[in-house]
Amino acid sequence: MTLPVYVLNGPNLNLIGSREPEVYGRQTLSDIEKALTQRAKKLGMEVVFRQSNHEGELVDWVQEARTKSSGVIINAGAYSHTSIALLDAFRALDKPIVEVHLSNLHQRERYRHHSYLSAVAKGVIMGFGSMGYVMALDAMATLIGTGKATLQ
Ligand code: DQA
Repeated sequence: MTLPVYVLNGPNLNLIGSREPEVYGRQTLSDIEKALTQRAKKLGMEVVFRQSNHEGELVDWVQEARTKSSGVIINAGAYSHTSIALLDAFRALDKPIVEVHLSNLHQRERYRHHSYLSAVAKGVIMGFGSMGYVMALDAMATLIGTGKATLQ
């Protein structure tokens, strides 16, 4: 059995649905988790879906993913723009990494234009709202080569 894909969410993402809906949409994190779980089933994959407001906890989960996951989808929220600790944790992870952002960072404040994690991600999906997570899972299925994803 293939190991699950870890889907890790950083600070304040527990509030989406009600937090700045004009930026982040009206879907809650639990709506996204449901959509991903359904999609994972179709792809013959499993997801472990988590959120934390704490940088160290996210670092712990990335370390755990070294042996317990087949890859990581990460929306690190504001830590994307600040956390060298998370970058270092991802550098120690020899698995595919897909970075997701609900909003298009390049249409926002300059301090959001740079993400430390983009340097280690295979690719970045941003600006598609909650659909971006599903797109990331489809990409992951192709990257790990075990899912039922095809290009047709
Ligand atoms: C975000 C963008 C970040 O700049 C912000 O701090 C977030 C969410 C996004 O998904 O668009 O919390 O990662």
